[in-house]
Amino acid sequence: MSRIDPGGSLRSHRPPQWSPGSWQKRDAAQQPAWPDPEALARTLAELRSLPPLVFAGEARSLMDSLAEASAGRAFLLQAGDCSESFAEFSADAIRDKLKVILQMAVVLTYAAGVPVVKVGRIAGQFAKPRSAPTELVGGVEIESFKGHMVNDDVADPRARVPDPRRMVAGYHQSASTLNLLRAFTKGGFADLSQVHSWNLQFLAASDEGKRYEQIAAEIDRALRFMEACGIHPARESALHVVDFYTSHEALLLGYEEALTRQDSLTGKWYDCSAHMLWVGERTRQLDGAHVEFLSGIGNPIGCKLGPSATPEEVLAICAKLDPERVPGRLTFIVRMGAGTVEEALPPLLNAVRDAGHPVVWTCDPMHANTFVSDGGRKTRRFDDIIAELQGFFAAHHRAGTWPGGVHVELTGDDVTECLGGLGDVMEDQLHQRYTTTCDPRLNARQAIDLAFRVAELLRA
Ligand code: PEP
Ligand code: CO
Repeated sequence: MSRIDPGGSLRSHRPPQWSPGSWQKRDAAQQPAWPDPEALARTLAELRSLPPLVFAGEARSLMDSLAEASAGRAFLLQAGDCSESFAEFSADAIRDKLKVILQMAVVLTYAAGVPVVKVGRIAGQFAKPRSAPTELVGGVEIESFKGHMVNDDVADPRARVPDPRRMVAGYHQSASTLNLLRAFTKGGFADLSQVHSWNLQFLAASDEGKRYEQIAAEIDRALRFMEACGIHPARESALHVVDFYTSHEALLLGYEEALTRQDSLTGKWYDCSAHMLWVGERTRQLDGAHVEFLSGIGNPIGCKLGPSATPEEVLAICAKLDPERVPGRLTFIVRMGAGTVEEALPPLLNAVRDAGHPVVWTCDPMHANTFVSDGGRKTRRFDDIIAELQGFFAAHHRAGTWPGGVHVELTGDDVTECLGGLGDVMEDQLHQRYTTTCDPRLNARQAIDLAFRVAELLRA
């Protein structure tokens, strides 16, 4: 690469020994025990022959936007399912999820006045790491559900056997989802004049829906005002299309490797399964296979940080995943828990700030606040989620660093999976509309409420 461009702008950050398959020499945590190696090899060969889902240039655009977030001039909104479902795959479900994310972005942009970088946990978020490899169902021990790209969530031992063909099904579902997202975001649906139509029917009558309507009406007025002043909103493309990016946890390294392609413009390798990939809390071992894989791809990447992360570890991750200190390349997704973040985060913020590393800091207030309710369902309290966000913002305030984003699990459906919020989901109501295949998600009311709270924190 340096021979192509001695000046360095196209210089590859790729470590010398890296290749799309170099992760195979490292320990790879959380990989399924595929029962038939030949079937796996055939599937991976097929995936290698299929077209990329995203283009390198798009990943670079996202990197530029995230660079703004790393410099305190933009805010990252990363949101979607914990685990996308093969069973819940419809245009309506995709549209409604997009509506909620667009609404949240409007609230954040309008109420806090910062540009919002929109990234979905969507079009590829199909594989799950698990704390326990097996679970007990009616006294019988069966393999855990690992996401629809691996096995089925039905509680039956046969359904839980990993099947590599599911990766191909996941690829095709990702392609259809992405196609629809591109149509929605570039074809008129995301036009700012449509801001009222994103208010979902069941949401509109609620307090959060009404609060959102007020902002929508103000935006309408502003657009009419511009028109009256002789500025023509119709000619401003930024008002009519939205840049919406995709992301997922890069867990199944065989799949990710198969979709990693060399960019003809720059010669760099990009994982073309999504614009942004992240490494989870359970797979971020410094010398492990996941970190090795992410270290060589050109995409913007994320790394989850739980309560046990130390400053030394975090600086070592910076050195390994972003040695050239490219702004927007590395996003730390902090998930420490409501009672922990305010104490555990500042040493990390100080260390990275003092090292001058240009990362994006974003708060995942979901994953460390999960517990099992008396009725046996995994859930999260809305109040804990807000408390973790407050602690995250307070820590940044003290360190003088920029709280650069939020990372949440949500759906456009009116589910009852997280407790509380203005709609007040109670513990004995969790069973009513509990449809997630993995972690509990915010419903649309809770998600809009959260956006207003974050906007307040940003303004403060
Ligand atoms: C997730 O994002 O769904 C997840 C499993 O997160 P973590 O790695 O932070 O536990
Ligand atoms: Co999750």
